[in-house]
Amino acid sequence: MNFFSQYSVLNSCLNKNKTIGLVPTMGALHEGHISLIERATIENEQVIVTIFVNPTQFENSEEVKSYPQNLNLDIQMIKKASPKSMIYAPKSNDLYDSKMKTYRYEFGILEKIMEGKFRNGHFQGVATIVEKLLNNFSPTKAYFGEKDFQQLLIIKSLVNQKKISTSIVGCSTYRDSQGLALSSRNKLLNTKELKNAIFLIEQLKLAKSLWKKENSLRITKIIEENFLNNIWLKLDYFDIRFENNLLKAKEKSDQKTRAFIAARIGKTRLIDNLLLNEY
Ligand code: PAF
Repeated sequence: MNFFSQYSVLNSCLNKNKTIGLVPTMGALHEGHISLIERATIENEQVIVTIFVNPTQFENSEEVKSYPQNLNLDIQMIKKASPKSMIYAPKSNDLYDSKMKTYRYEFGILEKIMEGKFRNGHFQGVATIVEKLLNNFSPTKAYFGEKDFQQLLIIKSLVNQKKISTSIVGCSTYRDSQGLALSSRNKLLNTKELKNAIFLIEQLKLAKSLWKKENSLRITKIIEENFLNNIWLKLDYFDIRFENNLLKAKEKSDQKTRAFIAARIGKTRLIDNLLLNEY
């Protein structure tokens, strides 16, 4: 079985003359992750899927404990999607020393807004673990979902700053038949919450249709009001921003622009985003 809990052992099994695709995950896999694994399998000679709930990207240990986990099911899903892939599911001590310290990075505005504002230290933790994984395995390509669009830009900035040669591949958000973005956190929702969670994509689609004629201030007002009338969801933020630098976009232009949303439903926090340009 291609299962490893120590990166040094996995590393000794890698053929450094062949391409390596890395799919970093925190487990509780869903079809979105599987689509990344399938793409990595098509584009690379060797594939590593990592499963590690990275403590440094959470604000407290309660959050880490409540993160959904199901290693056996994850392994079965990976084997089915990519039988030859190598699974790396370490304990913390394979990646961190006992102090569990994050490295220090400067990401400017990218880490000060939206998720960065609501989740203290989150991106420092994400960048630390991703840098460790990229340095340990030196993959040719690494795959990340666009649902976490801000994370994707942080990781692109990380590899630029650290001159890491891995190419970072952003993959479209995987949605269910109702449009709900797949997320491991959806597993924490009860049936009613799950039904109501589609409000996020409904509001993003509304924003997209309004963007044809309204400015971002007006759209934000409409969406905020819609949330006030929804008893199930509490809005953390709704923002319209340029895709390349995440600066606020005031009006429709040729530049690629996205609407970003984060909301809480019960105890679970969900995020999503949608490209507003028509192509
Ligand atoms: O997106 C995730 O699942 C995590 O943030 C990542 C990139 C695996 C780092 O822990």
